[in-house]
Amino acid sequence: MTSRRKFMTILGGGVILAAGGIGAWATSRDPADARKPWEAAKALDAGASGDPRIFALSHAILAPNPHNRQPWVAELSTPGEITLYFDTARRLPETDPYDRQLTIGLGCFIELLAMAAAETGHRAEVSLFPQGEPQPLLDERPVAHIRLIADSTVERDPLFAQVFLRHTNREAYDTARPVAAATLDDIAAAVRTARIAHATGTEEVAALRALSWEAMEIELRTYRTMKESVDLMRIGKAEIEANPDGISLGGPLMEGLSLVGMMDRQAMLDTETMVFKQGLEAQKVQFDTAMGFLWLATPGNSRADQIAAGRDYVRMHLAVTEAGLALQPFSQALQEYDEMAGKYADMRAALRISDNETLQMFVRLGYGPQIRPAPRWPLTTRIRSA
Ligand SMILES: Cc1cc2nc3c(=O)[nH]c(=O)nc-3n(C[C@H](O)[C@H](O)[C@H](O)COP(=O)(O)O)c2cc1C
Repeated sequence: MTSRRKFMTILGGGVILAAGGIGAWATSRDPADARKPWEAAKALDAGASGDPRIFALSHAILAPNPHNRQPWVAELSTPGEITLYFDTARRLPETDPYDRQLTIGLGCFIELLAMAAAETGHRAEVSLFPQGEPQPLLDERPVAHIRLIADSTVERDPLFAQVFLRHTNREAYDTARPVAAATLDDIAAAVRTARIAHATGTEEVAALRALSWEAMEIELRTYRTMKESVDLMRIGKAEIEANPDGISLGGPLMEGLSLVGMMDRQAMLDTETMVFKQGLEAQKVQFDTAMGFLWLATPGNSRADQIAAGRDYVRMHLAVTEAGLALQPFSQALQEYDEMAGKYADMRAALRISDNETLQMFVRLGYGPQIRPAPRWPLTTRIRSA
């Protein structure tokens, strides 16, 4: 069903809108400004003589990252060098209490930066946490110091061709199209250091669907974790364009629901309301249509391990995209807070994660519809002077 038809059905009798008017209104609701950083990167020419750091950073900001917080800040005062910082105002204290996932996002950023640098004939020499590894939280110290060195022997990465096509896909996947284990074996070749494994068998997929949904229900029913998400929701074009990050709920359907009062933030937090129950049902579709799973584990859980996991994660996502598959992380059972402890242990057991390993990413896979790019802050807002 198209968004427009769904919208009209939900509106039912109570609200009267002229059908012709809805079409024109709907097409005006696209948060196009929030997607401009994708267009800006696409318009750059790797062969042009500009600053290679701008080319590299323009692609790096397109990296996947938890709740689309985009916690990166680049400092460019020394020519040819980038110092990468974490924006301490962009934490997720409830669902990412040790900044593990945010660090993975920074790893994704570094990997895309290095891939883009190679396109311009530069090798990215990355020195991680040059002033020490921040624990138990990331802090004001640099995440990485990166030098771009002109190098005619640097190899371009074929996965770079997927950067503009890679998107986190939260739509229903096609339950009539299984995911072949052999396809996932090919994808595994993209990963450099983490251990990657997969599940495609009917029974195992069913068990993992159930377990990951139970974990999601805990996150949704725990007030403080749910509130963290609700606070980061950007509903409709105006909110998304004003803050092109967080959880963007765009499109005419969402905006229409908001107009008729069905996107009330207080109601979303109350497990007794219809709004909450309908939200739950809508999310469950993602779990019911998972056709396979992939996961990444690292031998340790240092900041360097987390960065490496991020570098591998985005490579895996690019390879998944190249294979024509869609992907969505289900991170809930991997999160380190008290209410989740039981599912955290169950997930590790189900995936046979050994005692000395950390489960860093867990994603569902399938064949899904095409989707639009997620919002990004313009690069200029992510650069700071010394
Ligand atoms: C460490 C990490 C955890 C994530 N966990 C989830 C998740 O649990 N559910 C989800 O829908 N997306 C998850 N994502 C995807 C991000 O929300 C997504 O990358 C971000 O919104 C930007 O969108 P894009 O990937 O389409 O560019 C995660 C991404 C990372 C890097």
